[in-house]
Amino acid sequence: MRRRIVAGNWKMNKDHVEGAALARDIAAGLAARPSSCEVVLIPPFTSLPAVREAIRGSAAKAGAQDISAEDEGAFTGEISGRMLRALGCEYVLVGHSERRHIIGEGGALLARKLRAALRSGLSPVYCVGELLGERESGAAEEVVSRQIREGCEGLSPAEFSRVVLAYEPVWAIGTGRTATPKDASDMHGAIRRLIGDLLGAEAAAEVPVLYGGSVKPESAAGLLADREIDGLLVGGASLAADSFLAIVPR
Ligand code: PGA
Repeated sequence: MRRRIVAGNWKMNKDHVEGAALARDIAAGLAARPSSCEVVLIPPFTSLPAVREAIRGSAAKAGAQDISAEDEGAFTGEISGRMLRALGCEYVLVGHSERRHIIGEGGALLARKLRAALRSGLSPVYCVGELLGERESGAAEEVVSRQIREGCEGLSPAEFSRVVLAYEPVWAIGTGRTATPKDASDMHGAIRRLIGDLLGAEAAAEVPVLYGGSVKPESAAGLLADREIDGLLVGGASLAADSFLAIVPR
């Protein structure tokens, strides 16, 4: 049985006071209606202490949106994995499309960030996905394969066992356009085959592969019903407790 995870990526939304209120509401909702999935809240760095406090004793876990590739030292503005662990984070996003395509982070840097997460005991949620033009030209699988290789090739089975993958087609993020369960499922299957080639059958069978991109309460159940889709990475709809809780399955 693979781990199933529903994670809310708050992006650059909610200050620490607003974040604590949202996290309290989500924790209360989960207490009233437990989920079979792991639920992970991924607020901005500055809200992490308040969110952790708000979810203390609940089933929800905390994650960060980014991590330095370095462990310590003269790297102004960076946040290390150890700092995130000290705040109780268990997960960290690596390679979210906004960091790839807006901030300009490339494959080599993301591979180092992924390894920094593993060194510090975090589970990296490594995000991959193609641009609209790449899908339209038939290059989606090639792009996603390249991103997976850049991040995961060369990891040991023990290291890879803590990696979570997230397929987020860039054209679906924040656009209201969701991939169909079939499109997502096909890509998840391709990702799993590639992991099998790179890291072996056990790694392929066990790695959770999440889908992200305009997931809403109306689309969540259909996506989660597919056996290739092990969970969801939710942006916009994770910013209100009622819509996020409506996505989290029982
Ligand atoms: P969205 O964001 O749900 O708002 O499309 C998903 C993501 O970027 O992780």
